[in-house]
Amino acid sequence: MKHFPNDFLWGTATSSYQIEGAANLDGKGPSIWDAFASIPGKIKNNETGNLACDHYHRFEEDVQLMKNMGVKAYRFSISWSRVLPTGKGAVNEKGIQFYSKLIDSLLRAGIEPWVTLYHWDLPLALQLEDDGWLGSTLPDHFANYAKICFDRFGDRVKSWITLNEPWVAAMLGYGQGVFAPGRTSNTEPYRAAHQLILAHAKAVTIYRKEYGHQNGKIGITNNADWREPLTLNQKDLEAAERALEFFLAWFADPIFKGDYPQVMRERLGSRLPKFTDQEKELIKGTSDFFGLNHYTTMYAAHHNGRLKESSVYGNGGISEDQDVTLLQDSNWPVTSMNWAVVPWGCRKLLRWINDRYDQPDIYITENGCSYPDVLVDGKVDDTLRVAFYKGYLEACQQTIAEGIPLKGYFAWSFMDNFEWASGYEKRFGLHYVDFETLERIPKKSALWYKEVISKNGI
Ligand code: GAL
Repeated sequence: MKHFPNDFLWGTATSSYQIEGAANLDGKGPSIWDAFASIPGKIKNNETGNLACDHYHRFEEDVQLMKNMGVKAYRFSISWSRVLPTGKGAVNEKGIQFYSKLIDSLLRAGIEPWVTLYHWDLPLALQLEDDGWLGSTLPDHFANYAKICFDRFGDRVKSWITLNEPWVAAMLGYGQGVFAPGRTSNTEPYRAAHQLILAHAKAVTIYRKEYGHQNGKIGITNNADWREPLTLNQKDLEAAERALEFFLAWFADPIFKGDYPQVMRERLGSRLPKFTDQEKELIKGTSDFFGLNHYTTMYAAHHNGRLKESSVYGNGGISEDQDVTLLQDSNWPVTSMNWAVVPWGCRKLLRWINDRYDQPDIYITENGCSYPDVLVDGKVDDTLRVAFYKGYLEACQQTIAEGIPLKGYFAWSFMDNFEWASGYEKRFGLHYVDFETLERIPKKSALWYKEVISKNGI
C-alpha cells in the first residue's frame, strides 16, 4: 500500500454550465455558452447545457452521493450570470440562494467547498456590450463579481479559485473558435489572456485587502499537458521547453514571477500585450497555491518550418509562434478523447512546476478520463477508468515521496456531464448519468476511489 499524507485532500470536481441546467430559471441571465450551444453545428448533436444533469434541482442528492464516496472536498463553479444576470449591476438573489444552499449542504456533509469563480460561462451581456475578454473593462467587472461572492459566501467558503484554465478560454475561445465565443484569430488569444490575468489579479487583491479576516486561500487553476522532447537533440529539448512555456508559463510566469516568459516576449513582439510596472506588481504573487488541471502528454519536436502534427487540441493557428511539432506515440493507450494515458508525464510536469515556481503547494484540481461507458444489468464496469486513476495516483504518490508538496487531488468528474463541444457523448464521470431519467449510478471507479480515500492510499 502506498500511503498519502494524512492531510491529503481528496476531492471531485464539476463546473456550472456542465451540470446545473436551469439555464433560464430563477432570473439567471444567458452566458456565452448558452448562446454558443444554440448555434447549429457548434456542439456534437447540437446538444446544450439547458438541462444537463439538472444539478440545480438535484444538488442535495449529489451531495449525498459525494458523502457516500467519502470525498473531503468538492470543487464546483459559480455561474456568473446566475448571480449577476448581465455580468454587472443588480444581484439576482435567487442565484445567491442556490449557491448558499449548496454550500450549507456540503458543510453539513463534512465536505469542503472549493469554489471556482469562472469556468468559461461569461455573461452574454459582457460579450455583447464589453467585447468579452478582449474588453479592457472585463477585469473590473470580474473583480466586482468576485467581491460579491466573497461577501456572500466567504464566511463559509475558505478555498477560492479565480479562473479555470484561462489557456482554454483564450486559445479555444479566441484562437481556434471551437469553444465560446467562437472566434478565430492569431492575436486575440494573447489579448484575451492578458485581460484574464489582470482580472485574476484584481480579484485576489480585493480578497486579500478586504476579506483577509475570512482566513481563506485563493489561487488560479491552469491546465497543462506534459511535453516530452522527442529526442535528446538540443533543438528538440528546447522545443519541448518552449512548448511548456507557451502553454503553462504564459499564465503562471506573470502570476508567480511577474511577467510573461522571455521566449514569448521575444517571439511575439508587439502581438503580446505588455504589463506596466504597476500591473506586474499587482499580478506577482497572486496565487496561494498552484492549481493544475492535467490530462495528457505529447512529444514535442523542433518544427523545422513544416507543420505536421497530431496535436490533441491543435494550436489555435498560432503554432507558428512556437515552432513546435506535437506528436503522440502510437503505443500509448488513449481515452475516447484520443488523449494518451501517460502517468509518468504527470510526474515530470509536477517536477517542472516545483522547480520553476519554487516549490509551491500544488493541487491537482482536475485529472480524469473519458471512456464510452455503458450500463449492463444496471452497472458500469469501467475497468479502464480505474486503471487510469491508479496510474495517475501512483505518479502523484511517487511525486510526494520525492518531497514535492502536492497537497490534493480532484477527480474530474463527479458525474458524467456536458463535455463542451463534444456534448454528452464523452463520459468523464465517476457516476454514470442516464441523460433521459437523470438517474446517477456509481461506476466501478467510484467504488474504487471510495476505497482509496478511506485507506488514504493505493
Ligand atoms: C477541462 C475542463 C473541464 C472538463 C475537462 C475534460 O479542460 O476544465 O471542464 O471538460 O477538461 O475535458
